Amino acid sequence: MAETKNTGSDELELSDELIGKRAYFTRLEDATREDWRLILSNYRPWARALSNRVLAHLRLLEGEHGGNPVDRLQHCLQTATLALRDGRDEEYVVCALIHDIGDTLAHGVYTGYYWFQYLGTDRNKRDDLRSHPWWGDLEDFCLKYDCAAFNPHYESMTLEEFEPMLHRVFAKPRASLYTKADG
Ligand SMILES: [Fe+2]
Repeated sequence: MAETKNTGSDELELSDELIGKRAYFTRLEDATREDWRLILSNYRPWARALSNRVLAHLRLLEGEHGGNPVDRLQHCLQTATLALRDGRDEEYVVCALIHDIGDTLAHGVYTGYYWFQYLGTDRNKRDDLRSHPWWGDLEDFCLKYDCAAFNPHYESMTLEEFEPMLHRVFAKPRASLYTKADG
């Protein structure tokens, strides 16, 4: 069956009374308008707790050092502390704090310059990114904060000190698929 294009708004009134309940469809296309009201009502508090989930992921980095002088959590705390003490704004500091959650960030390519040759791969892989408009920002971040954050003797701020900042930044998404066009 051909899909009909419907760009009109049919905004649902969400309800806290639906939190914790479940819909019973077995295929997404069978979900009714009421099912979506239930799902979106449950989504709202879940979305608000995003910063708590980010914090939980950060804590998973504790103790994981991979042979480095500091573990990944200490590295992240040190990166964020260096950025904060260099006068960066809150959003930048929080991004620095969480930059090593996950493995696929571009700085891995950037810092690979120091170790890719020991894997027998191309250490200059990062040159592919040089023409990107954000190259300068990437280089700045890596050289000033990321690469400098392996010092076991540096006095980093604690995760607890960064927590209020993290909650504030995640409370105000800059852009989301789920926010209305008029904000
Ligand atoms: Fe890093």
